[in-house]
Amino acid sequence: MKNILVTGGCGFIGSNFIRYLLDETNFEGRIINADKLTYAGNVESLAGIGEAFPGRYHFVKADICDLSAMAGIFETYEIDTICHFAAESHVDRSIMKPDAFIYSNIVGTFRLLELARSCSNKLVLFHHVSTDEVFGSLGETGLFTESTPYNPSSPYSASKAASDHLVRSYFTTYGLPVTISNCSNNYGPYQFPEKLIPLMILNAIEKKPLPVYGEGTNIRDWLYVKDHCSAVWTIMKNGRRGETYNIGGECEKRNIDVVRMVCDLVDEMLPGSKGKPRRDLVAFVKDRPGHDLRYAMDFGKLKRETGWAPAETFETGIEKTIKWYLENGMWVKRVRSGEYMNWMKQQYENRQ
Ligand code: NAD
Ligand code: DAU
Repeated sequence: MKNILVTGGCGFIGSNFIRYLLDETNFEGRIINADKLTYAGNVESLAGIGEAFPGRYHFVKADICDLSAMAGIFETYEIDTICHFAAESHVDRSIMKPDAFIYSNIVGTFRLLELARSCSNKLVLFHHVSTDEVFGSLGETGLFTESTPYNPSSPYSASKAASDHLVRSYFTTYGLPVTISNCSNNYGPYQFPEKLIPLMILNAIEKKPLPVYGEGTNIRDWLYVKDHCSAVWTIMKNGRRGETYNIGGECEKRNIDVVRMVCDLVDEMLPGSKGKPRRDLVAFVKDRPGHDLRYAMDFGKLKRETGWAPAETFETGIEKTIKWYLENGMWVKRVRSGEYMNWMKQQYENRQ
């Protein structure tokens, strides 16, 4: 792997992955970040990276659906490896307006696969980053394994399921060297504040209402973003071609417990907030349609084959994350400009 194309590298996980690869691994090649810069993509999330690693990081603003732009990138940078993060990623947005999800997640993945197939003699690996949401919802017990049948609930998860199937079919039909990872909920620095954890952190800091869907009893399996990055890199290096690997945090939490923990930590970290606990800001609001009850990943296959396991506990990861949001007000201000406030207003109205 000499020239890795990272798609969606200006998003939450993609930007963390690029930093991880350059800062913390022995990868010596180049990273080419192709990102369309949707509302969720921010070049600020990689500020200083080009200067810190001269000649090893290149950004190209491009839509993965644009075949000629992407072909140009493949040729110019002699791409031999793809790590595909680019996607529309927010479930609530997919419920309100699914179009972009079909376009970027399904058509975009298809276009990239076609491009990869056209230069498959040079291709070392196409790694596809996917989600546990393709499996649908668990009941109160059990875990998702790699052989759990797909049963997606939202337009987002259905579009990711479609892209997973396409990637797998290019291995079976054309012998394209692929790996797929399905990961649980990530949290950490640079996450766009429409998702549960960063939204709750910022609202708690600003003493705004904390909208918890339904009764707050839905369960997610939380993983610190750097652990996801190390898992993806482990799979890219050591995963068997054609295989799928589950990634998870072994960290099941009810939403309400996550929110209360954020409240208590922000109370501790922000002096002068004593007296009125931030837990009082919790507001139970209208539930998400088709809201999956519970996700939990069995990542035993990855652990057995590569030895990977998460390094952070939820306690250490959430503390680091809150500190990061407290210390990075400029980044927050920047990503909340643009259409962010319109989205929040719309959300507020829908949930009443
Ligand atoms: P994100 O929304 O923060 O970032 C997505 C990035 O993709 C943005 O920079 C955006 O500009 C870019 N993008 C979108 N459409 C594009 C297009 N057509 N062409 C080029 N770039 C485009 O998402 P994220 O949370 O970082 O998720 C990254 C990937 O990981 C996604 O594939 C997602 O399904 C998957 N995933 C996310 C989580 C999670 O908890 N966030 C968990 C498991 C898997
Ligand atoms: O499981 C992996 C998935 O995790 C990824 O594939 C998705 O890209 C990512 O967005 C995430 O999906 P979720 O829907 O689980 O994440 P979100 O942060 O939107 O919501 C987490 C839980 O919190 C979910 O049960 C809904 C609830 N929630 C969310 C928001 C934004 C609230 O109660 N209030 C909120 O305001």
